[in-house]
Amino acid sequence: MSEPAETTQANKHLYTVIVLGASGDLAKKKTFPALFGLYKNHYLDANTQIIGYARTKMDQSTFEGHVSKYIKLKTDEDKEALSKFLKLCSYQDGQYDKDKDFQVLETAIEKLEKSSGATARLFYMALPPSVFIPVATSIKHNNYKKGVITRLIVEKPFGMDLESSRKLAKDLGALFTEEEIYRIDHYLGKEMVKNLMILRFANVIFGSVWNRHSIDNIQITFKEKIGTAGRGGYFDEFGIIRDVMQNHLLQILSLIAMEPPVSLGAEDVRDEKVKVLRYIPPIAKGDVLTGQYTKSEDGKEPGYLDDPTVPKGSKTPTYAAATLFIQNERWTGVPFILKCGKALDQQKTEIRIQFKEVSGNMFTNLARNEIVIRVQPNEAVYVKIMNKEPGLGMKTVISDLDLSYSSRFDNAVIPEAYESLILDSLNGDHSNFVRDDELDAAWKIFTPILKTIDKGEIAPIPYAFGSRGPQGVTEFVAKHGYERSNQEYVWPSHSEASVAAKGQDQKVKPSS
Ligand code: BG6
Repeated sequence: MSEPAETTQANKHLYTVIVLGASGDLAKKKTFPALFGLYKNHYLDANTQIIGYARTKMDQSTFEGHVSKYIKLKTDEDKEALSKFLKLCSYQDGQYDKDKDFQVLETAIEKLEKSSGATARLFYMALPPSVFIPVATSIKHNNYKKGVITRLIVEKPFGMDLESSRKLAKDLGALFTEEEIYRIDHYLGKEMVKNLMILRFANVIFGSVWNRHSIDNIQITFKEKIGTAGRGGYFDEFGIIRDVMQNHLLQILSLIAMEPPVSLGAEDVRDEKVKVLRYIPPIAKGDVLTGQYTKSEDGKEPGYLDDPTVPKGSKTPTYAAATLFIQNERWTGVPFILKCGKALDQQKTEIRIQFKEVSGNMFTNLARNEIVIRVQPNEAVYVKIMNKEPGLGMKTVISDLDLSYSSRFDNAVIPEAYESLILDSLNGDHSNFVRDDELDAAWKIFTPILKTIDKGEIAPIPYAFGSRGPQGVTEFVAKHGYERSNQEYVWPSHSEASVAAKGQDQKVKPSS
């Protein structure tokens, strides 16, 4: 991680961190590695105690194995830091709805607080939705103390639709204040997503063209190469729209489309995000296309329905494209095309803003300008522009202004999204967490179309594992205005892969 902006003494308060669901996948893959990352870089106070809690019985050494499994150690210093970190970690098993077990947890917390001097508690709920409320209730009854700062991190899914999300908000709201709740959407912790406000509001050249007068359409794309990979049972209940589009992609959309907030303060930012979402009507049936992956063409990768945890004959989409419209002064008529899918040809998340055509007919064979914000992998912002092909003629060629992080920011290490978000919660900063009314606005946009899909009224189009997605996607984006250029263009122009792909040296040769 790069040097902290203000201080390496991360936390104003000394915390005890309690990870609920500590034996699960999320805790192992994301929460513990993120806590370690913060500890190693001195963003987590060296006296912070971490307690894991879950139903599984585990001794200390098994727990330590679980905590360390996904932590990457590059140097001897890392190894040393990990052995110190593990000394801060302890584990307790218990049921999620038994006061008695949470009282045992309370005794453990108090004992640690006595020795560490901690005055604040962060409860991290890495839990399945079915136990959300039982656990929150148990915490409130047994581990909530006046005078002790309490923060609760909750993970999606926040309901299945508008109704269930409201119920969850109401039940959680009866136990904890909005101030105490931190709803994670880990895309808000990603470096390039955090960069959106700076790109938009700290650059006149972008700010002034960011509207329907200049922009033709915007695509936000999420692609994954992996299928459900053993998560089929969970995934099937939700499908790709609830898993990725309604949260991660919509969060990106709101940051791309919102008006400038009064300040960077959490409530000012979230006010603007909610406001822009409220201008979006529910998605129309004709503006959605869904797909479900089948075996790969070579037969090596299984289809979605081959996953033994997926119910036979399931119609759950693993791919979706949907077009949203924002009916306000800035955006009326500009399609926001969201696309996401599993088991595709590549892994990437990017935002592609395509501009209108230049007026006049001085040139032929022009492509539209595009600003592409590559969220992952290979973080970059590049602007596709028309340029004169070097030489004696006046031929136009697509080129780019390319801010690739790997070449521009030499030693920058991009923090993991979870590190960034846990740090924010320790510091009491809600800016990058989802507010309850934001959730409500998001569900209003998606609930009607989800009900239509759940009823089986939109059949998923099959696509092969490892392909570009279901047939019809190209036509779908074209129908909503996206224009593919007829000039050959590969980004990044300096990558070896692209040089090889073009089969020629990319360097401009002086004309003879
Ligand atoms: C999660 C989804 O929220 O995001 C997963 O549940 C998805 O299905 C994941 O794979 C993608 O996150 P990332 O950070 O790997 O892009």
